[in-house]
Amino acid sequence: MALIPVDFAPLDTVALAAHAGRVVVFADDTLTVEAQRVDRKTRGALSRALKSAAWLALKPGEALTLAFPFGLAASALVLVRLPRRATPDQARKAGATIAKGLTETGAVIVARGIKPLADLVEGLALRAYGWTMKTEADKAPGPVTVASPDPEAARAACAEALSRAEAVHFTRDLVNEPANVLTTIDFAHRLEAMRDLGLEVEVLDEDAMVKLGMHALLGVGQGSESPSKLVVMRWPGAEGAPLALVGKGVVFDTGGISIKPAAGMEEMTMDMGGAAVVAGTMRALAARKARAHVVGLVGLVENMPDGRAQRPGDVVKSMKGDTIEVINTDAEGRLVLADVLWYAQDRFKPAAMIDLATLTGAMIIALGHDRAGVFSNDDGLCDALLKACETTEEGAWRMPLGASYDVLIKTRMADMKNTGGRAAGSITAAQFLQRFVKPDVPWAHIDIAGVALPPGETAFAPKGPTGWGVRALDALVRDRFEI
Ligand code: BES
Ligand code: MN
Ligand code: ZN
Repeated sequence: MALIPVDFAPLDTVALAAHAGRVVVFADDTLTVEAQRVDRKTRGALSRALKSAAWLALKPGEALTLAFPFGLAASALVLVRLPRRATPDQARKAGATIAKGLTETGAVIVARGIKPLADLVEGLALRAYGWTMKTEADKAPGPVTVASPDPEAARAACAEALSRAEAVHFTRDLVNEPANVLTTIDFAHRLEAMRDLGLEVEVLDEDAMVKLGMHALLGVGQGSESPSKLVVMRWPGAEGAPLALVGKGVVFDTGGISIKPAAGMEEMTMDMGGAAVVAGTMRALAARKARAHVVGLVGLVENMPDGRAQRPGDVVKSMKGDTIEVINTDAEGRLVLADVLWYAQDRFKPAAMIDLATLTGAMIIALGHDRAGVFSNDDGLCDALLKACETTEEGAWRMPLGASYDVLIKTRMADMKNTGGRAAGSITAAQFLQRFVKPDVPWAHIDIAGVALPPGETAFAPKGPTGWGVRALDALVRDRFEI
């Protein structure tokens, strides 16, 4: 769904009283000056609400909703609890609260003195997301008018927050698209369309990847009618060695010959979630013209069972030159990433490298759905990444790496095998990836299997894909990679 329309205008109390949608005002222990004016129009409804037990029980960012208030044309008067100097988290939460109640008649937000306004608008735009292929869908919510004394200053202050939310929506849309729509070809086209934003986009086809020796990646896609692709996006916002972002883009994961059970297999349309986050991050960076050099590389493949599909027991040679025994064709993400990681280092000599992947079901067993697992060979990079996740409220938790896990992927047949058994499944997957990371490259691997498509709604997304990581990576670039 397109971003909710947000406009900025001076406060017009006559228009406010006539507004048919929702009217949003703020209070903490007392009403804001504007809320007091609305209170008089409603003959003290807000003052009474402020004395209620229901109000006193609210946390910052939560709201009381008064339906069809006296004295206003509004369908609802929304009283949001927010301290005068709210934290960014509180402001974002307030925005999400406002978004949840929105209908097609929209809202006027009486925002004078509300700080930080950009965070509130970001929370609102993130939460106001919908996606459906129903022929008779509900009407989209909106528009929202932010009424403030200096509308142009408010507009400028919120522009980046809105473009970031748009990038998160772009990621969610990609994850939502079913695999018959978002084939490898279609995915590549959507990334090529980002040239309009000033991104350089290059698409490597199978012939090019054969020449590069990427047989780990190519083996995964060889059972599909959709050709495998490697898409390289570059944002040249600064000189010097880039940050490389690498994403797993399995447009559908049947498991291949090691086929998955039928129950829940439809979820594997989200197995390109890592690639979607990389694409969304590149979009956010381009939209705000980040002064950083960042490359995004995504391996787009489909894992299908077929007469030409790869078999368990096959041995493939990676671009790096290492041989891999394919024990289980369902452990395909690491095979794709192995070649994309190597290519990223070989071509771009990155200052740091971060990969994102819906890599293992074991990650969900370990951390559930509100924290992604982070594996890293570099404490500085890892700490900065975890801090960025904390400021953007995208849950993350560091997981271990180590030689004792690495022995689990040894085999007599080849340099390594692609599974390490049930124990520590997410860690052995990360160990596999680390074999394709040069020791001097600071690297982090983020397993987003649990957070990309959680089973219910989250603070900033309705049920469906979250776009987890776009905002954290954008924040990380700002903190650590911008000049
Ligand atoms: N794409 C899956 C992992 C996954 C599972 C992501 C559930 C999101 C939700 C991955 O390709 C996979 O199938 N991994 C296997 C690895 C195993 C065969 C070693 C798994 O987790 O079972
Ligand atoms: Mn799989
Ligand atoms: Zn997969």
